[in-house]
Amino acid sequence: MALVPMRQLLEEAEKGKYAVGAYNVNNMEQIQAIMAAARETQSPVIIQASRGALKYSNFTYLKHLMLAAVEENPNIPIAMHLDHGNSLETCKEAISLCFTSVMIDGSLKEDSKTPTTFEENLEVTTSVIEYARPLGVTVEAELGTLGGIEDGVGSGHINLTDPDQAVEFVGKTKVDALAIAIGTSHGAYKFKKEPKLALDLVKEIHSRIPDTALVMHGSSSVPQELAASINKYGGNMPNARGVPMSAIQSVIPYGVDKVNIDTDGRIAITGAIRKVFVETPEKFDPRDYLGPAREALTVLVAQKMRDLGTAGHAGDFEPKSLDDMIEYYKANGLL
Ligand code: G3H
Ligand code: 13P
Ligand code: ZN
Repeated sequence: MALVPMRQLLEEAEKGKYAVGAYNVNNMEQIQAIMAAARETQSPVIIQASRGALKYSNFTYLKHLMLAAVEENPNIPIAMHLDHGNSLETCKEAISLCFTSVMIDGSLKEDSKTPTTFEENLEVTTSVIEYARPLGVTVEAELGTLGGIEDGVGSGHINLTDPDQAVEFVGKTKVDALAIAIGTSHGAYKFKKEPKLALDLVKEIHSRIPDTALVMHGSSSVPQELAASINKYGGNMPNARGVPMSAIQSVIPYGVDKVNIDTDGRIAITGAIRKVFVETPEKFDPRDYLGPAREALTVLVAQKMRDLGTAGHAGDFEPKSLDDMIEYYKANGLL
């Protein structure tokens, strides 16, 4: 069994100078595709579910699909992570579903739209850490806001992370991982012109909180050939633009250990399904289009794992249990 706390994966990534992809999942095919890519490339992996994903799958289904991935892949270290938790209650619910890691996105209020004050963020993040840490569960927080809106989540405005606040926030909360806003957005339309990340800001934040794993949300690259394929088969995604992989690779040496990817998977799946529908309109067995969608996602994720440097690292370390993590926190004065 290699269900591990996310903190272990992030610490190993920092040591090995690579980043771990955190891939959003909603259904069986996505989970199977990501695990096939992890097996093929021998990569540790974070599978993450948003509140929307949990609701869509009626909670229990996604829990058991994720646990099936763990059971089927004993040699791949896997963290089950809640993406953009909006309250202590949501985080508690995810932990009750066996998640080994939760994100409390205290940069926004519980409505997941309205930006909070620094103090409000501190308060809700602290409440989640007080609950999760004695259980060995990893906590990711967020400071600053991304652009873009996914499924009603997000303020829609970019507010870059303030390094002074990052230092104070981490000093007070001792959070495991911090998502920072460095110019990315969620979704398929991240930049109007040339993509630009605040590299100097990442460097400064990392130099001032070098022991905290940094997380980059909104990290889809929106591969142009995949967007073009969607358009070719009747879709409509004009001017879709993401973060080039080279830009992501440029921040990995500065403490960015976790990279969140959802949109690219959606594009790969949709392109594959559209192709089947257009080229073979007589088909109506879901396996005839969900199968190719799963294969397209496997190819995409395997390439990400190679590009992020995760490939080949699945067997580097002995997996930690949540109980091991509790001892680790105690030994390091974090509990
Ligand atoms: O950051 C948001 C993720 O892409 C999840 O999106 O809330 O539509 O599931 P979702
Ligand atoms: P993308 O929309 O760029 O895939 O970002 C996903 C994300 O940050 C999930 O939390
Ligand atoms: Zn996100």
